[in-house]
Amino acid sequence: MEQKDLTLIREGSTEFYIHDVDKDSIPSKSMNVFYNKRMEINRDISILGISAYSDLFNQDELIIVDSMAASGVSAIRILKECTKVKKSYINDINPEAVRLIKENMKLNNLDKEHIQFVVTNKDANLLFSEIVSESSEKQKKPNVISIDPFGTPNLYIDSAFKTLQKVNGLMCITATDTAVLFGVRPNACIRKYLSKPLHTEYCKEIGGRILIYFTSRIANINKIGIVPLLTFYSGHFIRLFCLSFKDKKKISKFYKNFGYIIHCNNCGYRSAFRNNVLNLPKECPVCDNIGDLDYAGPLWIGKIHDANFIKKILTLNNNSKSPNKKRIEKLLTYAIEENDMSISYYNIHKLCQNLKLTSVPKIEDILNEIKKLGYHASRTHFDFLSIKSDLDLLAIKNVLLEIKK
Ligand SMILES: C[S@@+](CC[C@H](N)C(=O)[O-])C[C@H]1O[C@@H](n2cnc3c(N)ncnc32)[C@H](O)[C@@H]1O
Repeated sequence: MEQKDLTLIREGSTEFYIHDVDKDSIPSKSMNVFYNKRMEINRDISILGISAYSDLFNQDELIIVDSMAASGVSAIRILKECTKVKKSYINDINPEAVRLIKENMKLNNLDKEHIQFVVTNKDANLLFSEIVSESSEKQKKPNVISIDPFGTPNLYIDSAFKTLQKVNGLMCITATDTAVLFGVRPNACIRKYLSKPLHTEYCKEIGGRILIYFTSRIANINKIGIVPLLTFYSGHFIRLFCLSFKDKKKISKFYKNFGYIIHCNNCGYRSAFRNNVLNLPKECPVCDNIGDLDYAGPLWIGKIHDANFIKKILTLNNNSKSPNKKRIEKLLTYAIEENDMSISYYNIHKLCQNLKLTSVPKIEDILNEIKKLGYHASRTHFDFLSIKSDLDLLAIKNVLLEIKK
């Protein structure tokens, strides 16, 4: 690899190379080595998330596996920006990526005297099984694993849970197959995630909940439970951070988090139902329609974030110099707000169109009016033009009409 074929890029504290030929390409599988500037926010939040995890849940030094590292940008940023890293496994199946990772490690003066790191060129599942077989009393299991593939992460989650520390391990999973999770390709979602999606106005939230459900079930097979710490959507991906626990009784108690969402295509009624598929209503409780009632699930109907974890990230973000700082603050503040709210959200622009209103009221005004009526209302990070509320759809429409009077 000749220096003249490489271009220098900066992200956070880190300068790194990508291939010159990849510089102006649309990010895709066909790049020499994958790099997407738009995923910088994913890397920023991941680094803040790992630091928050290290402060809140893990007293030990960090053993991190970046199983799909591409240029190595994320792994190198973690080595430079997170304290307490003891060992890092940096891997990619693409040999070109591995050559670039090694070049980028040299560029950042990361030498093996200070931190142990292992750069490998393997299939992620093979890497995971090798780490398991080398773990022993002396060599602890990794406490942080990142899975960031092209498309679905479903093939890697089982072996990742076999590799992760069973108690208080941090699993970070990205899914970019949003057409599948958001219900554009429902059969593919049933096949890949064992769950039926719905292509509704709140399909991003449904997609996030399907990813948590699937991850939780695969964890359960491995005698592990998970607590979602943060589930966020940005641009074209969903990223889930969850904490592992090992307690059979608690795992069984967590079944209450599995359920379904019922959606009426006629009147827009939606509601979450716990576990038992036989308890699902057959006709819409609002408009009595039978044919228009649809469902999504099974999926996760419990909380999708841990507010303390997000607050810690927000505190760390205050000291950040990232160009994404403001966006991260907005996204995570909305994530805290939405965490205690009921499932689904309403897109205000669509509602106004539906009501033939000529202009859209300010979202803050709508939230205040709903709260004045004694109901809960919040923003949602899934869609900055939507609100969550326990007020029903008809009453929300009336609020919009009242504001516009
Ligand atoms: C979306 S990119 C990862 C981006 C990277 N995490 C970043 O922040 O820039 C996906 C990477 O996964 C690698 N990959 C795909 N399948 C893999 C597998 N089975 N095992 C290991 N790496 C894989 C690809 O070569 C590619 O570099």
